[in-house]
Amino acid sequence: MSVIAAVGMQWGDEGKGKVVDILSEFVSAVVRYAGGNNAGHTIKVGDSKVILGLLPSGVMRPGCRCILGGGMVIDPLVFLEEIGKVRALGIKAGPDRIFIARTAFAVLPIHRELDGLFEDHQGAGRIGTTRRGIGPAYQDKVGRRGLRMADIVDRDALAGKVEAIHAFWRPMFERERRSLPPFEETVEALWSLRGDIEPFLADTTAILHDEIRKKSNILLEGAQGTLLDVDHGTYPFVTSSSASIAGALSGTGIGPLSITGVIGILKAYTTRVGEGPFPTEAPPEMPARIRDAGGEYGSMTGRPRRCGWLDLPALTRSVRINSVSSLALTKCDVLTAFSEIPVCVGYEVNGKLSHDFPIAGLDRAVPVYEPWPGWKENISSVRELGDLPANLRRYIQNIELKTELPVTLISVGPARNETIVVKNPFR
Ligand code: IMP
Repeated sequence: MSVIAAVGMQWGDEGKGKVVDILSEFVSAVVRYAGGNNAGHTIKVGDSKVILGLLPSGVMRPGCRCILGGGMVIDPLVFLEEIGKVRALGIKAGPDRIFIARTAFAVLPIHRELDGLFEDHQGAGRIGTTRRGIGPAYQDKVGRRGLRMADIVDRDALAGKVEAIHAFWRPMFERERRSLPPFEETVEALWSLRGDIEPFLADTTAILHDEIRKKSNILLEGAQGTLLDVDHGTYPFVTSSSASIAGALSGTGIGPLSITGVIGILKAYTTRVGEGPFPTEAPPEMPARIRDAGGEYGSMTGRPRRCGWLDLPALTRSVRINSVSSLALTKCDVLTAFSEIPVCVGYEVNGKLSHDFPIAGLDRAVPVYEPWPGWKENISSVRELGDLPANLRRYIQNIELKTELPVTLISVGPARNETIVVKNPFR
């Protein structure tokens, strides 16, 4: 039995969807543990491509149970839309294999409104959120007035909670002279979905404990990345959930000793969407080149991603926070044809070199780079580590050396088969 968590090491968009899709062939269940449809996991199977915000990436494997864990915030309409998209590809997506935690929280129309309102209000200090209502939904959760998914099928709980949420935020709408949709409309819209949602509701923690008792393989799928984690990221420019391994525990109800491994997923370079510090962000001509080659546009919002170089101090910090046991390196093909690839190996802070990521003083820290020689060969058809260009092998070995971890999966193109699996964590 293996219970493996797949966690993003950077600012999200590391290619977790593809890695989870590949590994889900070997598991009984895939569980999304945090976030909502701010995530966008792109999965390519044959000629079909699907972008999922809520459904675990294992949904494309018919034998795999897919769980939306209690740490998530779920927009019920988006959930039903995604079920439709997957079914349109001929894949079974019924309540016999897809389960929503009763305890997960719902994203309501008012949360989307609030997300936009906060962002517009902040002007230059805005976070650059996805405006999907994620932050406000988590605010209501920790404010102890949130609407759980199970409340959608209980008329009194539904009406009472929606009314309380609207009452709480009404003064802000009035102050901003924005109109708040009548709460009865929200109640009726959600009540009309109860028949579609109810069959998917389950005690997902009990399902997982049962799978663990049966010694099944389980994959815990992270969303976003450690540098966007509400506790460990570049606060306040973060998402509102625990994207790191901590969220894999609280968001599923699995205890720490049940997790047998953590696979840290990183891109061969770095990207970030939205505002906030990004010390290794590259000068404008390089992002354009990477953005085109790597398709670096937000999969849910279409926003161009900011692009930059690999940051080893940040990576090492993420590795330690998450107790990572092996690494998956994605999008190596995007760096092909760069004659030289800078890699950040440390930071100069107050004239002193440090190999730690200066999370609390990023504005005063200057990245220090080592240049790495690039490669020219097209690598998309390579399936053996030894067949990769020597300079790419050295680039990978350097990551292994600095993190003291093996790189066990290397992605050389977007398709499922464009992957070198050095070691499968489930075998
Ligand atoms: P929110 O999660 O929509 O509140 O956005 C907060 C920050 O996290 C913003 O900078 C977003 O761009 C970023 N973010 C949220 N989800 C993702 C993701 O899946 N990939 C990359 N960035 C994300």
